Amino acid sequence: MRPMTEQDLPFIEAWLRLPHVACWWTPDTTAEAEIVRYRQRVNGSSARTTIMLIVTWEGNPIGWCQWYRWADYPAEAAAMDARDGEIGIDYAIGDPAWIGRGAGTQMVAALVAEGRRLHPGVGILTAPAAANTASRRVLEKNGFELVAIRPIVTEPSDTPMAVYRLRSTA
Ligand SMILES: CC(C)(COP(=O)(O)OP(=O)(O)OC[C@H]1O[C@@H](n2cnc3c(N)ncnc32)[C@H](O)[C@@H]1OP(=O)(O)O)[C@@H](O)C(=O)NCCC(=O)NCCS
Repeated sequence: MRPMTEQDLPFIEAWLRLPHVACWWTPDTTAEAEIVRYRQRVNGSSARTTIMLIVTWEGNPIGWCQWYRWADYPAEAAAMDARDGEIGIDYAIGDPAWIGRGAGTQMVAALVAEGRRLHPGVGILTAPAAANTASRRVLEKNGFELVAIRPIVTEPSDTPMAVYRLRSTA
């Protein structure tokens, strides 16, 4: 994994348009709108801090992920019932050639390690769509526990989400 730069945005935009990503990542927004937000985050003009990372395999980009402190997103944190200090994560394998080969499981392990490198033992709370079986399995294989299946009021739709927590070890 390495920090995302503006040079990465064109291929992330291409991944965001692929059906296996679009169906889970942009059901209520567009690839263009996502890229505008990513550009602000990587060039430091975003008001809130979300750490953007590129997932690589032997040096080649295959996906991207992000983490943030729920405290920086108070309305969303309240809707998620986040505990003090917890961080949130989001992730995608963009390159279709790497889907279903274990890369997602390793990506989440690396993302957990990165968050905990900066915040030792931190609890991690995230919520894929309840229907996103692959994403849920990746979390479960990394030790996350299912907290609830319910809509999240700060999300744009009332799609049921599967809320998962990796408990704090601090
Ligand atoms: C979700 C995602 C990260 C999973 O990564 P992956 O590399 O494809 O998954 P892995 O190969 O590590 O597999 C992890 C588990 O999920 C299962 N799985 C993978 N694809 C699946 C599918 N389509 N349906 C059901 N289970 C699936 C695997 O069988 C494995 O479980 P097992 O070991 O019990 O058999 C990846 O598919 C992806 O990025 N998808 C598009 C974007 C997305 O959904 N992001 C998450 C938004 S919350």
